[in-house]
Amino acid sequence: MRLNVVVGISGGIAAYKAVGVVRALVLAGHDVHVVPTEAALRFVGRPTLEAISRNPVHVDLYEGVAEVRHVAIGQAADLIVIAPATANTIAKLAAGIADDLLGNTVLASRAPVVIAPAMHTEMWEHPATRANIATLRSRGVTVVGPAIGQLTGADSGPGRMEEPEAIVAAALAVVGGAEAAPASDGPEDAASTDAPVADLAGVRVVVTAGGTREPLDPVRFLGNRSSGKQGTAIAEAARARGAEVHLIAANLEVSSPDGCSVRTVSTALELRDAVRDALASADVLVMAAAVADYRPASVSEAKIKKDGSGDGLTLELVRNPDILAEIGAEPHGGTLLVGFAAETEPDDDRLLELGRAKRRAKGADLLVVNRVGWREGFATDENAVVVIGPDDLVVTERHGAKTSVAHGIIDVVVSELAVRRPVSTHRGSAHPI
Ligand code: CTP
Repeated sequence: MRLNVVVGISGGIAAYKAVGVVRALVLAGHDVHVVPTEAALRFVGRPTLEAISRNPVHVDLYEGVAEVRHVAIGQAADLIVIAPATANTIAKLAAGIADDLLGNTVLASRAPVVIAPAMHTEMWEHPATRANIATLRSRGVTVVGPAIGQLTGADSGPGRMEEPEAIVAAALAVVGGAEAAPASDGPEDAASTDAPVADLAGVRVVVTAGGTREPLDPVRFLGNRSSGKQGTAIAEAARARGAEVHLIAANLEVSSPDGCSVRTVSTALELRDAVRDALASADVLVMAAAVADYRPASVSEAKIKKDGSGDGLTLELVRNPDILAEIGAEPHGGTLLVGFAAETEPDDDRLLELGRAKRRAKGADLLVVNRVGWREGFATDENAVVVIGPDDLVVTERHGAKTSVAHGIIDVVVSELAVRRPVSTHRGSAHPI
């Protein structure tokens, strides 16, 4: 169905690339309304935007007052895409400031919002921008990019706006794929919008969950306190959002979600075999399982007895393979690798540093850091996580029920897949405008 898409453009040099975003959306058959900021018009002209969007372009809050334009554009939108989103616009969105037509449009809308940040690396990495991005993500805004590359001056680094095709693919995925989701026509449709968006339709996700057990003898094992709740919540969230999910379940204390194929394993070596078997057909691998780093050097066939020769017992352990690091270090066909880091570090900054180091050491694309302790992380229904992205920056922070944390992690997976995946199904004319 034809969507009503608002493209907000803010004032950065990347505004010229916004023309490509508008053009791709028009070519895909959507009704596109461009809302530039005053500053954006210093970089790209209104006639260009009107010609490409095939709609009038408004900037001024005090134009069209009789038709209540400052809220009408937002109310009518099915999707809002802001590209480029400058640091200033991101700050205003996070604070809910409505001192221009774009700010009013966003506030007056219930449509999903997708932003494509563009700025210098220092601005992107500034704690103010990072906090604003985290706020927007926690409200459900999808953040596409920024990419790492050449910036306006001689410098390069994270901050370059994603390419228009990637932005459009991500935006259309948010509303149900490049084919475009039906627009809501009224209150009857309201209930259906509560259902999760099928933004992982056609994506194959492999999730490991639980904790491995390494046998010592027929009755004893070395294990850990992972219940598998967070991993199964991720499998369930991915399934609810349309993915084909394969769950590799290591000694789960909870039942596996419906609709997933399940393989049960117990030891780290069994888990490794199961992951290897599933990897070739996986678009995403989420390694939520707590894997034993060591196993007993030998497993006794009979129950180990107290032998009366002393007070202690010394066990010899050997290293288990690091499954995620092995896969991260070898070609893995573009599978998005999501690792976890269970850390007891109490200091927030040092916790993040451990997470960053672990992401790099494991070759993971995304790393979910969660603090564990005697009372934290394991077997509870709540969790608090920070997700570190491919550029080592924090892409989201989530806390609350493990199910809602799971959806937050899946949001990041969706954004990450969208920036990697080319736009595949544009409808309409193939002729350049
Ligand atoms: N992992 C793995 N194979 C292992 C150990 C861990 O694949 N032998 C994966 C986990 O599933 C998780 C990530 O690596 O996604 C980090 O696990 P974690 O236990 O936090 O870290 P370790 O690698 O075990 O490092 P350390 O215990 O030294 O912190």
